[in-house]
Formats: sequence, structure tokens, C-alpha cells
Amino acid sequence: MRETVVSGIRPTGNLHLGNYFGAVKNFIRLQNEYNSYFFIADYHSLTTHPKPEDLHGRVKTILVEYLAAGLDPEKATLYVQSDVPEVLELYLFLNMNAYVGELERVTTFKEKVRKQPDNVNAGLLTYPTLMAADILLHNADFVPVGKDQEQNLEKARDFAGRFNFIYGKEYFKIPQAFNFGNELVKVPGLDGSGKMGKSEGEGNAIFLAEDEKSIRKKVMRAVTDGGPTQLNQEKPEAIQNLFTLMKIVSKPETVQFFDDAYNNMSIRYGDMKKQLAEDIVAFTAPLRERIIELSNDDEYINKVARTGAEKARESASKTIREVRDIIGFRHF
Ligand code: TRP
Repeated sequence: MRETVVSGIRPTGNLHLGNYFGAVKNFIRLQNEYNSYFFIADYHSLTTHPKPEDLHGRVKTILVEYLAAGLDPEKATLYVQSDVPEVLELYLFLNMNAYVGELERVTTFKEKVRKQPDNVNAGLLTYPTLMAADILLHNADFVPVGKDQEQNLEKARDFAGRFNFIYGKEYFKIPQAFNFGNELVKVPGLDGSGKMGKSEGEGNAIFLAEDEKSIRKKVMRAVTDGGPTQLNQEKPEAIQNLFTLMKIVSKPETVQFFDDAYNNMSIRYGDMKKQLAEDIVAFTAPLRERIIELSNDDEYINKVARTGAEKARESASKTIREVRDIIGFRHF
């Protein structure tokens, strides 16, 4: 039997190239090799946005963009968390054996307390229990998580082991982090330092759905410097970043051409950025077209969500039935 992978996606904003070569590429690889469940974590949104603006619209955007990027509903089970309310029952059960003290020590909780001191709600405190319920609902073997989610996964492992211990049955598997290690392409941003991210400022990220004019504008504004002053000089970070981006979207000859120009000090950053912008536009064009096409096909999007929810509920209701039985809830 195939091993199971579960991962949740927060419905925040649009996908950028960094996401595309990171999380999305991972998911696409996983869907070929594992029994995969990918869902949009809309319940979790309420912990920070109790009255989320256009929740439905944002869920649709994420679904559309992941599908456009290559997630395949024939291979993976794609669903919206709130379409599978079984998770809430498991959340309740897990909460009964989750201790306030341990939840208070979770770094992401402490961060949120700092960020939203006027809304330290119980949902925020029990965010890791809901996440554990997402994972254990399908008895996952693996969870692909970034660094920022490692502690939440650790809690899921704790809760799984504790459940098994308390009820004296090895029911849940202890989920493991899925690590891609060095295979991941890190996409740099346009602001001269660090990786692409939407929180790093407006011009830093290129979104899959972004129109051509805006892509060109952002790339032309990317941070550079006064140019090389010595032959074969090492590239400073901002310049290296442009070359890294170019390696991702351009032909090797193109990269070589500008690399040579850098090394013999004849490079004109304006020309390089123009070329980079055109290559990004060409790379993202089919994705953008597919996003537009899918956004206009509500019937298909609905079908994907409905089919995904059905498949997820099959697995979820089996877990809930068994968990209820283990705890002692039985019919008379
Ligand atoms: N907490 C994750 C994040 O912020 C999203 C998430 C919710 C998740 N439930 C999950 C990830 C279950 C993996 C498995 O990105």
C-alpha cells in the first residue's frame, strides 16, 4: 500500500514564483508517489481573521492557482478543509488531551499573541490541535512542512503518541516530516536580498497571475549596483540573485552571455533585466492563461472541490468511526 501524505495550504494571497518552485513543485512530485491529501485550511483562517474578507474568493484563488500549476485532482485528493467537518470532531477529541501549558509554549502562538494582543482567542491556542487533526484524520505517514511549521508537526506527533498511549492502542501512525533537502530551488526576490516572498514588500515577488506589464515593471526596478569594477569579480548578492532568477527561466546560452559580460565588465544591467523580464513573461504566460481559464470555469472548480471532499470524507469518516469506538462512544 502507498504511504499517505497530508498537507494544508493557508488561503492567503496569490502564488508567486517562489511558491511555484517550492511548495507547488513538491506537491506535484508527491501526488505521483503517495496517497496525497492537499487541502485549503480555511478553518484555520478564523484564528487570525474571525471575519475574513472574501474567504470564499480566496479559497477559490488558491484552488485555481494550484490546479493551474499542475496539481492533479485525478492523482491527489484536493479539498477545502471546511467541506470535511469530520476534522472538527477529531479536533475536539485531541483537545481533551492537549494541555494549555504545552500549547502556550508553541512559538507560532507566542508570535500571534505579540501580533494580535486584542484577539488571543482559544482557536489560536489550539491551532496545533486542529493541524494535528488535519494530519491524523487521514493517518498520514508524512507531512511536507517548512521550517516554520516544524513545531506544529512536533505537536501532531505528540498528540498521536499520547492518544495511542492513553487508549492503549497503536492506532495513529506518528507522522514524519517530509524533507526535500537540497533538491529545492530557492527563488530569490527582486529586492537584492533573500528569497522571494510577498511579505518582503510589494516589488519583491512575481506572481503567477501577474500581467506582463507589471512583471516588466517589477523586474526593471530590481535592485542592482554600479556594475563590476574588476574582471571576473565575485557577484554581490543582488546581482547573483538576478543570475539565479535567469538560470530558472532563461536558456543556458542567455545566462552564459550575461555572465561573460559581467566577467569582462561590459554588462549593462538594463539589457539583462529586459531579457530577464521577457523570459519570466514567457515562462509564466501559459500558467497565467490557465489561471484565467480555470477562474472562469466555476463548474469545473466546483466539481474538483466536491469530488475531493467526497474522497476526503470517506477517509475521514472511517477514522472518526474508529476513534469514537476506541474512546468508548458506541451505539446502544
Ligand atoms: N499551518 C500550516 C501553515 O501555516 C497550514 C496547515 C494547516 C497544515 N493544517 C496543516 C500544513 C496540516 C500541514 C498539515 O502553512
